[in-house]
Amino acid sequence: MTRFHLGWFNGAGFGLQGWGSPEYVHRPDPWRPDLFQTSIRELERGGFDFLVLEDSSMVPDAYGGSPDYYLERGVMAPKLDPVPLVPYLASVTEHIGIVPTLTTGFYHPWLLARLMTTLDHLTQGRIGWNIVTATTKLAWANYGLEQPEHDRRYDLADEFVEVATQLWRSFPASAQVLDVERGVAFSAENVKPIHFEGEFFSSRGPLNAPAGPQGSPVLFQAGGSPRGRAFAGKNAEAVIASCTSVEDMKSYYVDVKKHAVNNGRDPSSVKVLFATGVILGDTHQDAVDKAEAIRAAGQSNTASKLAGLSNITGIDFSTVDLDEPLTELRTNGSQSSLAEFLSTAAPGATLREVLATKTSPGVMGYPFIGTVDEVASRMKDVMDEVGGDGYLFGGFLRPGYIARLVDELVPALRKLDVIRTEYGNSTFRENLLEF
Ligand SMILES: Cc1cc2nc3c(=O)[nH]c(=O)nc-3n(C[C@H](O)[C@H](O)[C@H](O)COP(=O)(O)O)c2cc1C
Repeated sequence: MTRFHLGWFNGAGFGLQGWGSPEYVHRPDPWRPDLFQTSIRELERGGFDFLVLEDSSMVPDAYGGSPDYYLERGVMAPKLDPVPLVPYLASVTEHIGIVPTLTTGFYHPWLLARLMTTLDHLTQGRIGWNIVTATTKLAWANYGLEQPEHDRRYDLADEFVEVATQLWRSFPASAQVLDVERGVAFSAENVKPIHFEGEFFSSRGPLNAPAGPQGSPVLFQAGGSPRGRAFAGKNAEAVIASCTSVEDMKSYYVDVKKHAVNNGRDPSSVKVLFATGVILGDTHQDAVDKAEAIRAAGQSNTASKLAGLSNITGIDFSTVDLDEPLTELRTNGSQSSLAEFLSTAAPGATLREVLATKTSPGVMGYPFIGTVDEVASRMKDVMDEVGGDGYLFGGFLRPGYIARLVDELVPALRKLDVIRTEYGNSTFRENLLEF
């Protein structure tokens, strides 16, 4: 098989990194960029293609109708804006892609297009954009807006990307002349208005920022509902997916590539990366014991699982009777997260029964558990079976864990010749498209 890519999704955004966990690194001022900077340098040492910075715009109160649970545990809030962090990360690295999350719900395409172009220059061609549609109605309320219905948010996002793309093309790099002798800075004939009039947005253009080294940011997408996958096939260059079985990974992969082809795209121009939680042990049994300890801790702390699920679905699970059969649950938030949560139990199961089926160790996506060599070879086999295109590690930033991945797992994967040994190109997009 060809090689596959590695990425890291920082699920805690620019917030506390794992408060309450034994791996929490106490820093008296957690709002400094230092932990992010040391982590991204390590990921670059391991040849990772990118770091995604999660984000959202609210103090959640979906669980129990109050922010107490979230604030007291420093989970999902508070958070600083990840966008200004990008230049701090770029200044300590040379190759790795940096992917902040920005929502199509609250920016105007012109504002976002200019911001991304600015960051493409400041990162020297290493910027990506994780496109999200804002799943919580609370975030919409912070902007004084009603949350649109689920699929409608994707319609809006489609148009958003269309306007932004036209704006990125409206001031191409070729318009930058900077000819001192002739006294010409920019070629006016290459810079054109777009006169976009759509259902949700209008913009005259052109952008007042010349294209950066990549022309546009590498477009990321994560929503796994049918409408989300269609959006991804049309627009995304990298899809970050959370699947708990190899079968699901295969069908997700085929589905996204099919949508890409239906949109007239080369399917290899959209990469699908699957979330994984790797648990390494010095022996196989050591890894299994660690996984069991993580699973047991998760089982004894169901509130944490339910508070997270409440946040992304808007359903207050604190009010759901643990021992009554679940009635049909609907969400205008993340449909794929709710479906994934319910998928492991039979219809009519109680909430307690659903929780009891969570036998995986509570890591994101598909788990790999074993010694370094066992995990490396299984990661290769699964990728062979799925067809591509890589794995997404994640969670909060844990220096010890990242160091073990980079010092032990990465060399084992390199020995199998399945991941990069160096960055062969100057931009993030070129590296992503290299294999
Ligand atoms: C790996 C991964 C990362 C995500 N990152 C974010 C994020 O940073 N901010 C956010 O608001 N939503 C995030 N989401 C949520 C998705 O963007 C999407 O809104 C959600 O999955 C609902 O989409 P769906 O109903 O199409 O599944 C993420 C989802 C996944 C699987």
